[in-house]
Amino acid sequence: MTQLISEIASPLTGRIKVPGDKSISHRALIMGTMAIGRSRISGLLEGEDVLNTARAMTAMGADIAQEANGDWSVHGVGIGGLCAPKNALDMGNSGTGARLIMGLVATYPFTTTFIGDNSLSGRPMKRVTDPLSKFGAEFHGSKDMTLPLTVTGISDPTPIEYVVPVASAQVKSAILLGALNTPGKTTVIETTPTRDHTERLFEHFGVPLEMTRQGNGMAITVTGHGELTARDMVVPADPSSAAFPTVAALITPGSHITIENVGMNISRTGIFTTLIDMGADIRFTNERLECGESVADITVKYSELRGVTVPMARAPSMIDEYPILCIAASFAEGETIMHGIEELRVKESDRIASMVTGLKACGVTITEHTDGMTITGQPHIGGGAMVKTHLDHRIAMSFLTLGMRSDKPITVDDGTVIETSFPGFSRLMNGLGAKIGQR
Ligand code: S3P
Repeated sequence: MTQLISEIASPLTGRIKVPGDKSISHRALIMGTMAIGRSRISGLLEGEDVLNTARAMTAMGADIAQEANGDWSVHGVGIGGLCAPKNALDMGNSGTGARLIMGLVATYPFTTTFIGDNSLSGRPMKRVTDPLSKFGAEFHGSKDMTLPLTVTGISDPTPIEYVVPVASAQVKSAILLGALNTPGKTTVIETTPTRDHTERLFEHFGVPLEMTRQGNGMAITVTGHGELTARDMVVPADPSSAAFPTVAALITPGSHITIENVGMNISRTGIFTTLIDMGADIRFTNERLECGESVADITVKYSELRGVTVPMARAPSMIDEYPILCIAASFAEGETIMHGIEELRVKESDRIASMVTGLKACGVTITEHTDGMTITGQPHIGGGAMVKTHLDHRIAMSFLTLGMRSDKPITVDDGTVIETSFPGFSRLMNGLGAKIGQR
């Protein structure tokens, strides 16, 4: 564990690029593995979570390497071509890697064991083992279905129809990936729309999907045993990572920054909509489409923010951004009310509890609800606390951001966990004007 300390920042200025999108990077490696031939990926996130997915795909037969220009190449094995991994797959901290790959292997006739760090080993897997069991796969692990978990896949899977009971792109994607090696039509129905990167990549790789609107949601049908054609992919910068410098600039007087090439898929941009509702000066330029995903450059200027009630329906499009929204809300005039986000309790940490405890220690007025939080903003935050990150990268980065504008420096107990999603975070922020260092 390495403690990091963040002191009051100078006005943040400059143009930056944040690392590649984590969700798309996992999927790009998995889809490249499922295609026959060589796919190239540029902009891949080289964070621990994604590298663990690359190791898992390699263990099952893919040939994955970084090329001289920094791009990654994946020689895939094709649908039906995965081989049994010799050792347990260590997914580290990554719920996305674990759940998506569980879906993938559920319809192969071999046994795979999944392990992970203490955070991942406490996270619920029943949400994926329930639907994947319907294909015919068997799961062995603890009674509460947490890692370590062993999946015995099925050689002749039955196609399924499944209504996803929680808003979860991971569950939806696990089923769609399981369907690739299942004969016939598998349908997954989501009543609340979630990020659709898997669907976009299916189309990009030539796997047609039938989409039918169902109320607010969507029924997505895929016909298995198709063939994926190798394709090149460009991964945009992660809007979830861009949210940290965005909020840092909004709360640090005199700041004016631009973040280039950020993913603008509307299933991900709820944080920007909310910040703009709060009075943030955020502008999008150079909007374009790359490999089926919208991207833009984002310019952010210091802004005086006001509290808002975040609509519950917006939660899936900013589910990972509530911790950093809490930091913006701490300086906003009035109350910011967040409900309908009980899912935060089963992320890398219980993010409601982590934020409430850490913010209280820093002098922020915050009330905990079972399904959310209310924060009353104030012009000055005392800071001066040592905050526990609970193996949660976004908790670490949120409190380092708060330290840039609090009266006294803020320390986080473990900065190494940031490597999972945002390698180089401190260096990049310091380049803009932050003062983050080892304690
Ligand atoms: C992700 C989906 C979300 C999100 C996670 C990444 C994905 O999780 O919180 O960081 O890549 O599909 P849920 O599916 O659990 O909502």
